[in-house]
Amino acid sequence: MTTHKPAAHEQAVTAPPERGPGPVPVPLIVNEVPYTVDIEPRVSLLSALRDACGLTGAKRGCDQGTCGACTVWVDDRRVLACLTLAIACEGRRVTTVEGLARDGELHPMQEEFIAHDAFQCGYCTPGQLMSAVALVREGHAGRPGQEADPAEIAEWMSGNLCRCAAYPHINAAIRAAAGRS
Ligand code: FES
Ligand code: FES
Repeated sequence: MTTHKPAAHEQAVTAPPERGPGPVPVPLIVNEVPYTVDIEPRVSLLSALRDACGLTGAKRGCDQGTCGACTVWVDDRRVLACLTLAIACEGRRVTTVEGLARDGELHPMQEEFIAHDAFQCGYCTPGQLMSAVALVREGHAGRPGQEADPAEIAEWMSGNLCRCAAYPHINAAIRAAAGRS
């Protein structure tokens, strides 16, 4: 009888322990605060934030990845929280709009949104802010010695819809905030 000797790459793969389908404890770090939430593994990051952590800044718009209202950061990268499993964020840094202001001071992007009247109903605004700050960090709102390009900003904000059509004001706010950084 012959036996199959696993190759090195096969030996390295071990199945993760099965969890669920009922609630399991999931540790999350949100806005630098540790949480442990009891949720089913199928629960989205958006639901975990809103329903289990009590952080309702990220908004549920479409719940299917098309509007951007739920935009948050995971390890400083923007993600759609409605399409991200909370359990996949264990041990990673999650930042929501509640984490933008520091020590009672609004983030410059928040100040410029107010100064430029960059919202009407405000429902999309948390997601717009999270994308806007990330966009500047990603280098899409001008580089040193170079003017920000409104078309480039619009392109990199295109995942965030605004039913109130505040787009020109949002774009102007982003350019103003980028000029301050
Ligand atoms: Fe997530 Fe619309 S609620 S993209
Ligand atoms: Fe109303 Fe954008 S301000 S949806």
